[in-house]
Amino acid sequence: MNDVETLSPQAIPTGTMNKAPSIPRLRVGLPLGPTLRTKGVGMMLLVVVYALFIWAYAINQKNELLVRFNELRELHETEMQLHLIELAAFRDITEFFLFIDSEQELRPENIRDQIEALQQRQVAVIERYPEIAPTFAGLSHALAEAIINPGRKALADVGIQLAATQRYLEQLAKELALYQKALSDDYYALGDAAAMSSLLFGLFGVAGIGLVAMYFFTGLTRDIKSLERRLDDVVHGYRGAPLPIRRKDELGQLTHDVNRMVEELAQREEDLDLERRKTFQQEKMAAIGTLAAGIVHEIGNPVAAISGLLSTLQYDLGQAPMGHDDRVERLQMVQQQVDRLAAIARDVSDFAVPQSGKRELLNLNGLVENTNRFMRFDKRLRNIEIVLDLNPGLPAIYGVSDQLVQLLMNLMINAADAMEGGQSDVSKISISTFRVGADIGLQIEDSGHGMDATTLEKALDPFFTTKGAGKGTGLGLPLCYTVANEHGGTITLESKPGQGTRARVILPVDGRAKPRTEQEMAS
Ligand SMILES: Nc1ncnc2c1ncn2[C@@H]1O[C@H](COP(=O)(O)OP(=O)(O)O)[C@@H](O)[C@H]1O
Ligand SMILES: [Mg+2]
Repeated sequence: MNDVETLSPQAIPTGTMNKAPSIPRLRVGLPLGPTLRTKGVGMMLLVVVYALFIWAYAINQKNELLVRFNELRELHETEMQLHLIELAAFRDITEFFLFIDSEQELRPENIRDQIEALQQRQVAVIERYPEIAPTFAGLSHALAEAIINPGRKALADVGIQLAATQRYLEQLAKELALYQKALSDDYYALGDAAAMSSLLFGLFGVAGIGLVAMYFFTGLTRDIKSLERRLDDVVHGYRGAPLPIRRKDELGQLTHDVNRMVEELAQREEDLDLERRKTFQQEKMAAIGTLAAGIVHEIGNPVAAISGLLSTLQYDLGQAPMGHDDRVERLQMVQQQVDRLAAIARDVSDFAVPQSGKRELLNLNGLVENTNRFMRFDKRLRNIEIVLDLNPGLPAIYGVSDQLVQLLMNLMINAADAMEGGQSDVSKISISTFRVGADIGLQIEDSGHGMDATTLEKALDPFFTTKGAGKGTGLGLPLCYTVANEHGGTITLESKPGQGTRARVILPVDGRAKPRTEQEMAS
């Protein structure tokens, strides 16, 4: 039997049911980083910028290739022309020597015609390709000589110059061909390099973006999965440590919200559990009270009958002539015990009759006396001296008697429990009432083992108990606190280890519940 279990049903205060605290619907935010959307847009921009870069690079390479290509084409054309000129020179040489070798008479006007034709062709070539003009310097000179001084010698000189020019042109064409080859090799190399680098850029870009995307989505999937698992665990009752928050985007916020939800769920369940246990206790008490009332009622009748019969028997024996008879004495003793039984039944029934939880004008002293009388039947208080010091000048207070009885009983039982085992020489509980300004005070002091600072600090916490399993519930003092609070009063505990405990309750006479949360505790 623990202390609460000994309480009568109507002594359970009706006002202790607390509503589960409503959770504020405030959205507590994380310091938000870039959102998922921003990350997506950023990634797309990155892809676009990279594509633009590759495009610009490819255009640049193409232009470079085009420049080389044009150069090559021009070179090719030049080479072709050189060959043509070379060919023409070769033809001229052939014609010229044929002309010299012919049996034809070398008349100056014939020579002049021939030379002028050559000069015209040379001028035409130089006009088109002024850069090869120096090549023709020797030839021009020989031609000019031949016009001034036509003859076999001049012609032979022209022939020699023609051959030299042709050799020179041939040499030039060879060099050009070599240069062209080098240029075209360069062109192909550049083309290959451009193709290869474009390919590499493309590949690395795609691979890089792929890696970033993979990293991003892997992280996202991992976090979504762990959130999903956590939610599943929560559904199956998990209320433990929160998930670590690794990100600052919407998913991070969601994780944070889920953590908060779990925390609040746990708090709410704890509150509900507390309420459930309180309700259970109340119902248990009510059931025991009803049972007790029934039993007391059933006992009352036979006790009354026995008492009546005893009186009759005593009277009859008293009438007998033999004078003193010790049977009368024994019957008187039986009568005393029956009276005691009747008194117990009366007291229990006083407490068992359901009373309203309404506020009414109460005499605190009377309440203390009644409770004390009733509590004397509790075996824990049997060997304890209870001293009452009640101030007769107390004003009536406005309050709920059940609740105040409950408070007093709990404090008395705690006092008795503290003296269990009889460490101190005198087991004594002093109960006093007094005035404190306009308020009234009720003090319960014991000579028990007292409390150390930690116990004292936690004593008012629900379910805090230092008593063994099945003995303490840890609900006694929280209940006292609630009752005092609901009467607009306070409860103060003072205690030192080995020096007993003093519980002091201050109640305003109007008994109005004006919640005072301040709790003073001195050790
Ligand atoms: N008069 C007292 N003397 C010593 N310790 C006390 C006293 N009253 C309360 N306590 C301490 O406070 C704890 C909480 O008390 P209470 O809320 O009534 O729960 P319970 O009595 O069921 O343990 C007790 O377990 C005990 O350690
Ligand atoms: Mg207790």
